[in-house]
Amino acid sequence: MNLILMGLPGAGKGTQAEKIEEKYNIPHISTGDMFRLAIKEGTDLGKKAKEYMDQGNLVPDEVTIGIVKERLAKDDCKEGFLLDGFPRTIAQAEALEELTADLNRTIDYCIHVDVPEEKLVERLTGRRICPTCGTTYHVVYNPPKTEGICDKDGSQLIQRDDDQPETVKKRLAVNVEQTQPLLDFYQEKGYLLKVDGDRDINDVFSDIESILDK
Ligand code: AP5
Ligand code: ZN
Repeated sequence: MNLILMGLPGAGKGTQAEKIEEKYNIPHISTGDMFRLAIKEGTDLGKKAKEYMDQGNLVPDEVTIGIVKERLAKDDCKEGFLLDGFPRTIAQAEALEELTADLNRTIDYCIHVDVPEEKLVERLTGRRICPTCGTTYHVVYNPPKTEGICDKDGSQLIQRDDDQPETVKKRLAVNVEQTQPLLDFYQEKGYLLKVDGDRDINDVFSDIESILDK
């Protein structure tokens, strides 16, 4: 299965992607995670991406398309892939059409996790992540068993650099502008399905399961 998860920052793409990956055994490809890893490793890609991410802006298309192209060519994507946070511009969506055509593949579904914009600031500023295993928590909606500590490995949870209130506002503004044309693009292609993301995490996942189990 070849899937795209689409939604504004904080809509729950990463949270649902972890569940989809676990149940359906599809590699989860998050451009945001790839950039954060590159920043952690101090690579040239990381240095370039950081400038944009810290400002809440999108990383330039040619950089982003390049890393996705490399990633989709890997063996573990032969049976399918789950894209999270890509495409984010029409240029990226068009590039993905070409990439999949070259690989003789088509997108099965583009699932739009739909959450009203006004709910997203609270989700993002309350997010905490584990620096060791990457698990995502929320101080209110998805707290760890012990405050501030990862359930899986006992690491101290941290906040993402771009989850500070000012950067969150900028990210939302940038992404609101980019999202509608992309939704229109996938609607026209006939891949688009919407799930109501403004509900409990497990209820949202049940809707996604009913799409994928069809
Ligand atoms: P990226 O990492 O992709 O960030 P994003 O799109 O801003 O999305 P988030 O990861 O913030 O949110 P999410 O939807 O995954 O939500 P989550 O599940 O964590 O990108 C970061 C940056 O990288 C971009 O700003 C850009 O600079 C760059 N970049 C990445 N891709 C790019 C591209 N294609 N082109 C150019 N630049 C690119 O959930 C959020 C919180 O809510 C968590 O705390 C979670 O526990 C909680 N939560 C989740 N679901 C629910 C629920 N149903 N109810 C209550 N709480 C919930
Ligand atoms: Zn952890």
